[in-house]
Amino acid sequence: MKPWVRLATAAGIASTALVGPGSTADDRARRFQPSGQIQVESAADSRRDFLSAAPTGFDNRTNGFDPQGPEFDTIDEDNVEPLRSFNDNRFVFEEVESAVDGLGPTFNAQSCRECHQNVVTGGASQVAEHRTGRLDASGGFFESLGGSLIHSRATHQNIVERVAFEDDVRTFRISTNTLGAGFIESVANETLLAIRDAQPEALRGTAIMVPVLEAASAPRLGRFGWKNQHASLESFAADAYLNEMGITTPLFPDENTSAGKFVGYGSGYDRVPDPEDDGVDVVAFANFMRSTKAPSRGRVTGEVVAGEELFNQVGCNSCHVATLRTARPGTRINGGAFTVPAALGNKLFHPYSDFLLHDIGTGDGIPLLPGPEYAGTARQIRTAPLWALRTRNRLMHDGLSFSKQEAIARHVGQAAQVRDRYDALADEQRRLVLLFLDSL
Ligand code: HEC
Ligand code: HEC
Repeated sequence: MKPWVRLATAAGIASTALVGPGSTADDRARRFQPSGQIQVESAADSRRDFLSAAPTGFDNRTNGFDPQGPEFDTIDEDNVEPLRSFNDNRFVFEEVESAVDGLGPTFNAQSCRECHQNVVTGGASQVAEHRTGRLDASGGFFESLGGSLIHSRATHQNIVERVAFEDDVRTFRISTNTLGAGFIESVANETLLAIRDAQPEALRGTAIMVPVLEAASAPRLGRFGWKNQHASLESFAADAYLNEMGITTPLFPDENTSAGKFVGYGSGYDRVPDPEDDGVDVVAFANFMRSTKAPSRGRVTGEVVAGEELFNQVGCNSCHVATLRTARPGTRINGGAFTVPAALGNKLFHPYSDFLLHDIGTGDGIPLLPGPEYAGTARQIRTAPLWALRTRNRLMHDGLSFSKQEAIARHVGQAAQVRDRYDALADEQRRLVLLFLDSL
């Protein structure tokens, strides 16, 4: 038995539907192997009087994790102090990088904010990235040189990546929301597994184990990204800094290629030796996201309440779980690299997601990593959190559903029965469900 499965079982965590890491020779895959024991992270206090609601709002104000800091408008490149405050870290998250900072040589955008901004910094956006690959002779996923992520920009005209004609497995993945992400990070592994274990078998989600890079690749349950590819905000931020902006850090020290061609320092295309950032920016990004408030709710009318009852009655809430609890303050998570602070611990929040992977027939065909162990993830997508839905007009992972009705209509596979029950509602009842969705 693979060690991570055994340890998970020993800790009382059922091993069914837990996927282990791949074992391909390639460097990126090696870095992506969880190693060591999965930690038991204590769940929330059961005594309700200790629990409180996570702060909400689209207002650029801290949730209390970091102090607000100096007036945002007074911060500039010369006086910014990364890690000092919410406003300083927001400045770093919004900072536009250029080639002298290490941007590229291949990249997608110059700043985190370019893709995470609606309606305030940290939100989602319409920017979609490009992923492609193809199936090999045995039906396994094969990615062309340079990986499945196709960078759409470069610092030089000769090295912009383009899609190989043969790569006919292709998708867009749209930018997701990061507001309130600190609450998601602070949910204990056991809480997600308990949700999974309580789900009816026909639509039970899959939990996957991924490495926490800042904790020597300690395994933790993935919860961030369309494929649950990361468990910690620091790991995700370092991944994004490299893969969206081309900036290397101690956690991701190797520059991307241009479709396999070396374009890093020494090639003539890159002026900055690696790592291009010492890692401080990565913690600033993570702490900014940890300090953001959860998205707020729209107006909750009597009709909205009735709509949510119908949403629950047909079973949408089996996957779109309304309320989650974070672990108690002081709990060590992320393989021991992060301790849940008072501002994030013992909080109730309302993401309308189970943060598990499901096959609802929309899988984009691209697994978390090539190789047999992660093959199942090709067909699966994380339950899209429905909070902040009213701020978005391109839905589903590919952004190709223009309305709620079209997004719902695409639910088949594990969601087929629930969708059938929704379709069987009277027109007036469906109107109420849609009104409820408009309040999120
Ligand atoms: C070119 C656009 C782009 C840029 C620039 C970008 N992101 Fe993202 N971000 C995305 C997309 C697209 C996703 C979803 C990717 C996926 O899951 O395949 C995402 C997802 C995320 C998530 C996961 C949130 C969730 O849904 O669980 C985090 C965290 C994140 N980004 C942080 C960052 C940080 C920090 C930066 C700056 C270093 C950054 N991003 C820069 C496009 C971008
Ligand atoms: C089996 C789990 C499951 C059930 C049941 C389910 N969903 Fe989903 N839902 C998902 C997944 C997974 C996605 C993301 C799919 C994708 O992006 O390809 C999603 C996406 C959505 C989206 C798009 C959100 C966005 O951010 O783009 C909406 C709206 C939605 N679901 C509403 C509903 C409604 C209403 C019901 C009940 C009729 C329902 N869902 C039942 C798993 C489920």
